[in-house]
Order: sequence, then structure tokens, then C-alpha cells
Amino acid sequence: MKVGILGSGDVGQTLAAAFTQEGYSVLMGTRNPEKKEIKEFKKDNPAIEVGSYADSAAFGDLLVLAIPGSATDEVIKAAGKNNFKGKVVIDVSNPISKEPPKDGVLRFFTGPGDSLMERTQKALPEASLVKAFNSAGNTLMYKPKFKEGKPTMFICGDDDRAKRLVTEILTAFGWETEDMGKSGAAGAIESLCILWCIPGFLRNQWSHAFKLLKPS
Ligand SMILES: NC(=O)c1ccc[n+]([C@@H]2O[C@H](COP(=O)([O-])OP(=O)(O)OC[C@H]3O[C@@H](n4cnc5c(N)ncnc54)[C@H](OP(=O)(O)O)[C@@H]3O)[C@@H](O)[C@H]2O)c1
Repeated sequence: MKVGILGSGDVGQTLAAAFTQEGYSVLMGTRNPEKKEIKEFKKDNPAIEVGSYADSAAFGDLLVLAIPGSATDEVIKAAGKNNFKGKVVIDVSNPISKEPPKDGVLRFFTGPGDSLMERTQKALPEASLVKAFNSAGNTLMYKPKFKEGKPTMFICGDDDRAKRLVTEILTAFGWETEDMGKSGAAGAIESLCILWCIPGFLRNQWSHAFKLLKPS
């Protein structure tokens, strides 16, 4: 399967390398394939192709949104709406607003009863969005190691087939998956990003992950 990763930051690069490691072909999309950071990344990861957002979205059977939430409309426009048609889209992005965190608490530009993923799903009605990977640091996204066992990734989305595919990917990447239902759960999952970042901003702790404990 071919994966188009829209975004070339820490998340884009981490997931591009992880999918490649798992045997997928990857094209990572950016506004500027010539920039220094990307050239360095390419040197270490020669199998990963790099191109524009449109190249990446056209290439992938599976797409990943790894961009700031505030840039979503711009990136969809650059990628071309038609390139999302009929595809599963993993939405890693968070609706973080421009104001700095207060007492370690990030601000979102979405309000109660609203979420970035629902907005994006409305903008891309012919794609199947699945929220995933948004509430863990990029260094933990692939094969995280914890003595307590596998951490939990919370996902949601309206298409069960898409969520099954994302669950298979998460299993291969070393996570257990909790399906939280339809896209209406995205606001709750996106808020986990705020919670996850607080120990980071307050105490510089960035290597934790969530786990859902259940009665045996
Ligand atoms: N960092 C983490 O550990 C982490 C963990 C979980 C979730 N997330 C979420 O994942 C997303 C990506 O995070 P990140 O840390 O990898 O980096 P980021 O700085 O949020 O995103 C970098 C990417 O976004 C693109 N971009 C930025 N502004 C843009 C604009 N106005 N128009 C088009 N493209 C734009 C950059 O393009 P160029 O390549 O052209 O510069 C780059 O490809 C965010 O929504 C973040 O909240 C991050």
C-alpha cells in the first residue's frame, strides 16, 4: 500500500520512516521539498520520496494529515480535494491556537461540541477520516517501549472499514487501540493532546503515554 504523508515536521518524518519500516511506499508532502531539513532527512531515508502536497495526496492510497490544525484548509486546497476521494485519512493534527499555553495548558481554536476532525471530515465528505496518533509524542509513535506493556491509542471515525485498517497499522506499530466510536468523539480525543502536553510544559516530561485499564 502507498502512503501519502502530508506534513514534513517531526510527525511527518517519524511516520514516514515508520511506514517505510513496515514495508509501505511513502511520499512525504511539503511546501518546499528543497529545504535543508528535508534534504538531510532524505540522506538518511533514501527510500522515502518527497514532493508537494498534491504529489503526496495523489500518490497515497492511504493519507496522513501531519500538519498544524490551523493550516488544514490551506493544505487541502494545495493537495487538491479530489485526491482525497474514497481514501482513508489518518488525522494526527490538533487544533492548537496561536496563543501560548497558560500554566502548561494549551489553547485550542475549536470550542465545546466541536472538533478539528469533524470540520475536516465535513470539508472532505468523500474521504474516511480516522483520528489517531494525536495524543502521543512523535518519539513514541512507532514501537513504544513501556514496562507496563503496550500503551493505548484512542481512535474514532465514521467508517468502520477505515478504523479496522488503522487498527491493523497501530497493532503493527506497537499500540493497543481503543475505538471511541464516530467522529463526534474527536473533540474528546483531541483534548487528550492538551492533557498529554501538561507534564511536558510544567516539568519537561515528554515520554509518557496513556493506557486504558479494564477489569479482567
Ligand atoms: N510533534 C509531536 O510530537 C506531535 C504529536 C502528536 C500530534 N502532533 C500534531 O501533529 C501535527 C504536526 O506536528 P509536527 O510537530 O510534525 O509539526 P508542525 O510544525 O505542526 O507541522 C509541520 C508541517 O506543517 C506544514 N505547515 C506549517 N504551516 C503550514 C501552512 N500554513 N500551510 C501549509 N503547510 C504548513 C509544514 O510545511 P513545510 O514542510 O512546507 O514547512 C510541515 O510540513 C500538529 O497538528 C501537531 O499538533 C504532533
